[in-house]
Amino acid sequence: MNSAPPGLAGKQVVLGLTGGIACYKAADLTRELVKSGATVQVVMTESATRFITPLTLQALSGRPVYTSTWDARPAHHMAHIDLGREADAILVAPASADFIARVAQGRADELLSLLCLARPLARCALLVAPAMNREMWAHPATRRNVATLTADGAVVLGPAAGEQACGEVGDGRMLEPAELRDALIAHFQPKLLAGRTVLITAGPTFEALDPVRGITNHSSGKMGFAIARAAAEAGAHVTLVAGPVHLETPAGVDRIDVQSARQMMDAVLPLASRHEIFVATAAVADWRPATSVEAKIKKDADHRVPQLDLVENPDILATVAALPLPERPWCVGFAAESHDLLRHARAKRLRKGVPLIVGNLGPATFGQDDNQLLLVGADGEQELAHADKLTLARQLVREIAARAPSPK
Ligand code: C5P
Repeated sequence: MNSAPPGLAGKQVVLGLTGGIACYKAADLTRELVKSGATVQVVMTESATRFITPLTLQALSGRPVYTSTWDARPAHHMAHIDLGREADAILVAPASADFIARVAQGRADELLSLLCLARPLARCALLVAPAMNREMWAHPATRRNVATLTADGAVVLGPAAGEQACGEVGDGRMLEPAELRDALIAHFQPKLLAGRTVLITAGPTFEALDPVRGITNHSSGKMGFAIARAAAEAGAHVTLVAGPVHLETPAGVDRIDVQSARQMMDAVLPLASRHEIFVATAAVADWRPATSVEAKIKKDADHRVPQLDLVENPDILATVAALPLPERPWCVGFAAESHDLLRHARAKRLRKGVPLIVGNLGPATFGQDDNQLLLVGADGEQELAHADKLTLARQLVREIAARAPSPK
């Protein structure tokens, strides 16, 4: 989402590096954090300086790098106090097995672990991105240390599975810089939907006519995927049922891919009663070919045009909204219109029987990175001004959190 605003504007981040090959990714990570608006203060252990130079990180962060407890630059010679006091978060990436062990034990024998110990727990979070060989990650000692770190309130990001620098394959790869940046952005979002369950449909559907042709539409899925990301950032457990789109699954979201409206319905119905909130953003095809043939329809030598018979697709949103309580989640529908948005959105809200309809101008927003929304509820309307889709999705999540009934 290129036009998204800098997600870390105004945030002070200590980026800690410990010894590991994944230090090569820290240069990119520094750039990503700076580009997102953060002030990045790099702190490196002695081992980290064996893998990448402080000079590189100084140039990318625009600030001198700290490597020693005995650094004389801070006014009171108290780098371990000053750096942690100023920071909104400490992100250690890569975090070696040895570093995790030291922090788990509350040791403070070098600047970075000292900083972690001395930080104000209530306002400065510690996030660690482990990077190590798979055997080290799987070792009971590391498992114990990670469990201790988590119990002490640290957030462990990853690791991912895959090829390792040592040539082995398994768990222990550091997450990619963009994933770490997004995890940090998510960390700072208010947890308005903590522990709640949200089911979302997104994208178009594809209604096959034969193996190569079908009926679909221009929906890109971007709005629905942004809502899935925003809901997950807000602490919800999110299930995303996606039509055919080429978008990356937002972190922490469970995704089910479908093609047709009937497949989307089959995926949604059994899940609906297990979710508290349902947001239908999918642009479901209204009709499908009455028959779909197994072999490609060939052109006729006499130039006869095949006749297309259409039948109506099931209305997923209306079906879910008509479920009896307590199976019925709190439903949000979308209305993509080309004109008369308010009138159509009001009518659609009543027709579908849902508490909230989100209106937008379909042709103007399909495929775009930004949008403008009109929220139509039982007690009135509210506009969400033109912005990138992620910003709008976060505003919508705030509205949903405020309007959806609290869990029993
Ligand atoms: O009827 P219309 O397509 O205009 O309604 C739009 C809303 O209904 C959207 O929330 C869309 O996801 C949902 N919908 C649905 N199943 C359909 C048609 C629309 O869930 N077959």
